[in-house]
Amino acid sequence: MSHIVVIGAGVIGLQTAVSLLEAGYKVTIIAKHFPGEGTIEYTSPWAGAQWRTHATADQKDECEWDISSYKQWAEVAQSDPEKAKEMGIETYPSYFYWATETPESTSPSKIWFGPHILNFSVLPATSLPPNTHAGIRYTSIAINPPKYISYLLNHATSLGATLIHSTLPTPTLAAALTAAETLLSQQFPQAPPISAFINCTGLGARVLVPDALVHPIRGQTLLAKISGVDSPAQKSENPVFSPSLSVPAIHTREDVATPSVTYIIPRPGTDTWVLGGTKEVGNWSAEADAGTTEGILKRCCELWPALQVPGVEIEVLATQVGLRPGRTGGARVEVEEVEGRVVVHEYGHAGAGFQNSVGSAAKVLGLLEGRGI
Ligand SMILES: Cc1cc2nc3c(=O)[nH]c(=O)nc-3n(C[C@H](O)[C@H](O)[C@H](O)COP(=O)(O)OP(=O)(O)OC[C@H]3O[C@@H](n4cnc5c(N)ncnc54)[C@H](O)[C@@H]3O)c2cc1C
Ligand SMILES: *[C@@H]1O[C@H](CO)[C@@H](O)[C@H](O)[C@H]1NC(C)=O
Ligand SMILES: *[C@@H]1O[C@H](CO)[C@@H](O)[C@H](O)[C@H]1NC(C)=O
Ligand SMILES: *[C@@H]1O[C@H](CO)[C@@H](O)[C@H](O)[C@H]1NC(C)=O
Repeated sequence: MSHIVVIGAGVIGLQTAVSLLEAGYKVTIIAKHFPGEGTIEYTSPWAGAQWRTHATADQKDECEWDISSYKQWAEVAQSDPEKAKEMGIETYPSYFYWATETPESTSPSKIWFGPHILNFSVLPATSLPPNTHAGIRYTSIAINPPKYISYLLNHATSLGATLIHSTLPTPTLAAALTAAETLLSQQFPQAPPISAFINCTGLGARVLVPDALVHPIRGQTLLAKISGVDSPAQKSENPVFSPSLSVPAIHTREDVATPSVTYIIPRPGTDTWVLGGTKEVGNWSAEADAGTTEGILKRCCELWPALQVPGVEIEVLATQVGLRPGRTGGARVEVEEVEGRVVVHEYGHAGAGFQNSVGSAAKVLGLLEGRGI
């Protein structure tokens, strides 16, 4: 039984740990932050989150990763509602709009993921909200990120993972690996020798293995309660474009020009919603911006007119900021040998870490197996 050390306990590290454990590996997770902690250095708790692939048809890995996660989540949601609840995932109707013309928006019926997901259809032009060029509808999955990563951690622990809460030094990759080996021999002297390391440090990869391609993509969101009901008239008037508040749905608009994104996502297992958002490349600011909050509220009401019905109120409970681990050229999932040790890098999943996680972990398993580990 090979022993693998996973560095990082965000959605990427935890999913990889679970996939390795399920395949029979022994796993130790070393991380500075674990589920339950809230800091700007730890991205996963701040995600929206939903399944909404960003992959284009030519990105074979990303397409496969996103479909793997979709299939796994949809299967659990349909066959085992209790487990879905424990995971913090739920299926919802999802309405996705393009604000401006893009190659995809001009022929949405040909979009690559249409055949792979449930209930995909193109919205008629008559049911588009203002400032929208085209739209599609499909069944998607909303994720409650703090709950989901806690579930992954509990699952990994129940499968026998060993945990080490520690910060690895960052000057060189070799120094980080040596420090990991020392920690392990001090805390778990009986542990078998390490066969490989998996580097799931997200934005931390920027300092840990100086990778100049890694950069933050700042996202501000609002955690909110929405109360009141829209009128039955509103419901029947245009059920496709504007399901009532009593029929929760995910609404998303790709705002290419800003560059930004607008979304309203029910948070599974709670009576709260996440309203977003922004995509601010290169911005490290952890502070919530009041003007941005106003802009998000305005754009969300425009996107989902049910929110504008008199009597409907949005109560903002918290303003959240997270830094997506962006990487020029896309996520890095590949093997590197460092002074005789095998390291599989798995970082830089940007705004897609949740939807990439299941398939990205499967790729790591394949890379290890390919080396006979
Ligand atoms: C506003 C917002 C909305 C989003 N919406 C979505 C969405 O709808 N769908 C989706 O799929 N994704 C979404 N994302 C993206 C998603 O959150 C990220 O891609 C994902 O969380 C990245 O996970 P990670 O495990 O790579 O990084 P992280 O969660 O940041 O975890 C990194 C881990 O590495 C550890 N670490 C780092 N450096 C060291 C070190 N030196 N020593 C020890 N440990 C270290 C950290 O402590 C942590 O445990 C969103 C993100 C934001 C901010
Ligand atoms: C979506 O598809 C599933 C399976 O095909 C079906 O059972 C369900 O009713 C559909 N839901 C909606 C909202 O259309
Ligand atoms: C993780 O990858 C980053 C980016 O290449 C690198 O800076 C860092 O040293 C790596 N860390 C480990 C422990 O492999
Ligand atoms: C980063 O974002 C904050 C909040 O939106 C903003 O106030 C600040 O000007 C931005 N900084 C840079 C360098 O763009």
